[in-house]
Amino acid sequence: MNENSLKFSFPPKIDPLNVFPISWPESPKITYDLFALAKAQLWDPETLPWDTLRDAKLSAEERLAIGYWFSILCIFDAAAPPVFAHALIEMFKNKEEDGVRKCFSTILRDELNHEEICRKSTMICLPGNPFGPLEWTPKTALEKGAYNNIQWAYHNGARYWEGYVKAFDKYPFAVMFTSFLMGEVAATTLFSEMGKAASIPVYREVFKLVSRDESRHARMALYLTKRTFPNLPQEQKDFITKQLRAGFIFLSLILFKPFPGKFWELPDTFLEYHNTLQDAAQSGGLGIISLKAREDAWRNAMLKVKKTVEAYGIEFPAMPEVGLTGFEVAEEDLETIVPVF
Ligand SMILES: [Fe+2]
Ligand SMILES: [Fe+2]
Repeated sequence: MNENSLKFSFPPKIDPLNVFPISWPESPKITYDLFALAKAQLWDPETLPWDTLRDAKLSAEERLAIGYWFSILCIFDAAAPPVFAHALIEMFKNKEEDGVRKCFSTILRDELNHEEICRKSTMICLPGNPFGPLEWTPKTALEKGAYNNIQWAYHNGARYWEGYVKAFDKYPFAVMFTSFLMGEVAATTLFSEMGKAASIPVYREVFKLVSRDESRHARMALYLTKRTFPNLPQEQKDFITKQLRAGFIFLSLILFKPFPGKFWELPDTFLEYHNTLQDAAQSGGLGIISLKAREDAWRNAMLKVKKTVEAYGIEFPAMPEVGLTGFEVAEEDLETIVPVF
């Protein structure tokens, strides 16, 4: 064919926010290292000794309480797959670094495992072995209290999705994921302590594995933080301060203690049932650590994050619940996006 006779037509202009970049410039080594580590550390909930939970000698209250605890945990962990899936799509649209996209795909995969732990635990422990924390009929007073608490916690978990999705139009990832960083750091310590304290064998393994995942997620979040923070406008720095406060209040329900009224819309009956059930889960061997130990773990996690953000001129919020002074965030500002872990 005569080259001069070739007439090429060209495709129409492509939307730069299309969902798949076919371009893979080399990302920093840490992102590929974390991706490799995630593959090497992949685990399968199916292979864990669930019969040690099924056959455990537990009272009806203790069994209910363990089912309850995972019903509350799944408000966070069952929200994590869509949260990270949405983040992943946004990353592809915005041409985020190849290595970061890869790492986020593994976080999504890990979170499916964490969700599966909640599914298995609630199915084994809640009365009637239901296929979900809301799919059973409570009979005793404690069961009714547990069920009502789960309904309220679910209501709160379900109401933040819209804000989360909208925030992607306003803030870069690293800004949004700052409070995730705090959640991941706190979860790493708390789950590791729970793995040591648990007497039911399956939970000794579960919490060790989940903690290992969370520490990898924390390293990824830290990478994003350090990459993005040097060039942030003040408005975004202010948002981070609020986010850190909102994140703590949100995650406290499961990882520390509930703070009704601050973000959490909860009935007056919530706390008493929650505390009773948490105590029963502890005596059943779930590995719940003391309130003092949970407070210490949070304070340590926050001090790490405080050091990181303050190095970039971002104010850390006051956290009087764990004895930390700082910038006072208004109550209404807690209705910003909230994280999972
Ligand atoms: Fe995580
Ligand atoms: Fe998780």
